[in-house]
Amino acid sequence: MINKMDIEKHLTTDFVGRNIECHESIESTNIRAKEVAMLADEGTVIIAEEQTMGRGRLGRSWMSPKGKGLWFSIILKPYLDPGKISKITLIGAAAVHKALKELGITSHIKWPNDVVVEGKKVCGILTEMVLQDENSYYVIMGIGINANLDKGDFHDELKDKATSLKIIKGAEIDRSRLLACVLNNFEKLYIPFKEKEDISETIKISRENSILLNREVRIIKDNVERTGRTIDLDQEGRLIVEFENGKIEAILSGEVSVRGMEGYVDN
Ligand code: BTN
Repeated sequence: MINKMDIEKHLTTDFVGRNIECHESIESTNIRAKEVAMLADEGTVIIAEEQTMGRGRLGRSWMSPKGKGLWFSIILKPYLDPGKISKITLIGAAAVHKALKELGITSHIKWPNDVVVEGKKVCGILTEMVLQDENSYYVIMGIGINANLDKGDFHDELKDKATSLKIIKGAEIDRSRLLACVLNNFEKLYIPFKEKEDISETIKISRENSILLNREVRIIKDNVERTGRTIDLDQEGRLIVEFENGKIEAILSGEVSVRGMEGYVDN
């Protein structure tokens, strides 16, 4: 069981994770975060041992078995142009990558939402915006990390696509320490973004550890599917893709599948 004291032992942040709400079982930490966002301090974290209605992107569900993962949401109040929110997801992915490195695990970032280890997904991020009124909004960044799931915990359709840190390391992961590491790294990358809109360090981490660059990909955006080759990640965090028709475009968000040995591999 994760408890606040264990997390605080490892926390070096000013505000991220300084308020933590722990739940034994909850529908979804993102849903709960939305409910409390208005009165919550920025950096408040909602964490659950189990989610009964864990949510993934594109209306998918997110499997969140009890005591096995890190299922949490961070409430953020950046007060920036809503068009810049997708960058917060990149900051989250870079923070998870750095935290895993501190635990001795090499991971890669699958732009913009996923972190993969040995080619399989270990972490997904669902960032949502909550409009407060015309001029203000909050951001809920939900992060799911498959920490201590066993092989048998994954449904058949996930077995080839997802893994856990425990499976990779062959040993249980200290979830409290991992959470604190993610929050510490997140705050370091988030402050320059919030104060100066500077995401240069995040872009550097994402570029150096991307599994997407120079790969054949299939991109689905607004229900339109196109194939192309990834070239780079620009300073705004957009994926630069050369499409089959030779046109080069900067993509801000979208669903990307990488062409692998057995066709396109979705994560
Ligand atoms: C994805 O890869 O589709 C995103 C998955 C995000 C899962 C996390 S777990 C904590 C938070 N609460 C949710 O219901 N979803 C996010």
